[in-house]
Amino acid sequence: MPAVVLVGAQWGDEGKGKATDLLGSEVHYVVRYQGGNNAGHTVVIGDQKYALHLLPTGVLSPEVVPVIGNGVVIDPGVLLAEIDGLRERGIDCGRLLISASAHLIMPHHKALDKVTERYLGKARIGTTGRGIGPAYGDKIARMGVRVQDLLDPGILGKKIEVALNEKNQVLTKVYNRRGIDPAKVLDEYLGYAERLKPHIADTSLVLSQALDEDKVVLLEGGQGTLLDIDHGTYPFVTSSSPTAGGACIGAGIPPTRLTRVIAILKAYTTRVGSGPFPTELTDEAGDWLRTTGGEYGVTTGRDRRCGWFDAVIARYATRINGVTDFFLTKLDVLSGLERIPVCVAYDVDGVRHDEIPMTQTDFHHAKPIYEELPGWQEDISDAKSFDDLPAKARDYVRALEEMSGAPISAIGVGPGRTQTLAIRPLV
Ligand code: IMP
Repeated sequence: MPAVVLVGAQWGDEGKGKATDLLGSEVHYVVRYQGGNNAGHTVVIGDQKYALHLLPTGVLSPEVVPVIGNGVVIDPGVLLAEIDGLRERGIDCGRLLISASAHLIMPHHKALDKVTERYLGKARIGTTGRGIGPAYGDKIARMGVRVQDLLDPGILGKKIEVALNEKNQVLTKVYNRRGIDPAKVLDEYLGYAERLKPHIADTSLVLSQALDEDKVVLLEGGQGTLLDIDHGTYPFVTSSSPTAGGACIGAGIPPTRLTRVIAILKAYTTRVGSGPFPTELTDEAGDWLRTTGGEYGVTTGRDRRCGWFDAVIARYATRINGVTDFFLTKLDVLSGLERIPVCVAYDVDGVRHDEIPMTQTDFHHAKPIYEELPGWQEDISDAKSFDDLPAKARDYVRALEEMSGAPISAIGVGPGRTQTLAIRPLV
């Protein structure tokens, strides 16, 4: 009954799509457990590139059942457009299951996400503007609209009306925007209901039965550990729990079922949006990492902020998630450097910190303490096994493993499906 969690170890965009896809052949169910269409996974199969936002990566493997868990917030229009886009490319999403308890992103969530960011000015979070925060806010405030409400037009109408009674006041009186017409929203969402109905299921029950039957369930997190609402760099975080604990809540699986936690760790660090980032490079080294690594957002197209590897964060990810294995991605991007700086600790106002500082203020003041590791000049993108790597690349990997506190079990050396070096089986 293996239930394997896949989490981002840093600020997201570590290359989870590649890892999920790699595991695809051994996995029966792939479950998204939090987030929404703020996420973006790129999977490259042959000469085809797929950018997925809401659908679990498993949708690309015909033998896998893709599941959107209760912890996800769903923009139904975006989901249907993604399904249609894949169908046009010959990929059938008929197997997709959507939790009846997942929440829906409504038009007022998107309107509020954009307008509140604008009002925050310099203090803005840099959200993806997809309505994620407001949708989770309403979930916690018990004002949310859920997928199951699509099955009952009477209830759906009432919920939309109650929500807009309040939200229209906020939009018009606080933010000076136009109100939203509840009848139009109901109409639009009833249209989505027709198409989504066949996919709606009690996914917690389905997954529990699958685990009883010894099926392999992969729980795929969006974003990353440092974007977690509780354990990330609050308030510059997303509004859900990407960390491993969130997988249980967002999929309806008890913690005792989890067998493995795989964290995806990029060989350097990136972040999108605002917030502290100790190893950020604002000089040409940062530009070099961005262009060489292709560090532009899948969802928003924004430039990602880039910096050297941060071992303090990797250790933190190990601790918070109980990482059993790391999947190190994008090692090939670092080829050609003479020396590679790696952050081993922080200096906070003259005091050395080996762990992430307790307070936001201290984290904002953290300056990286670097160790330099020798680089390698060879192109490694054709390597087929760990032993094919040049000695200095192997040493870099071993050093990262030592500093991060969990074994590196796979290494990505390029975007393609086959450009992965397996060290230990992941399932
Ligand atoms: P939100 O999730 O749209 O509310 O955005 C909150 C923060 O999380 C912003 O800094 C976003 O840039 C960041 N974020 C959200 N999703 C992703 C992702 O998939 N990768 C990286 N950053 C993300």
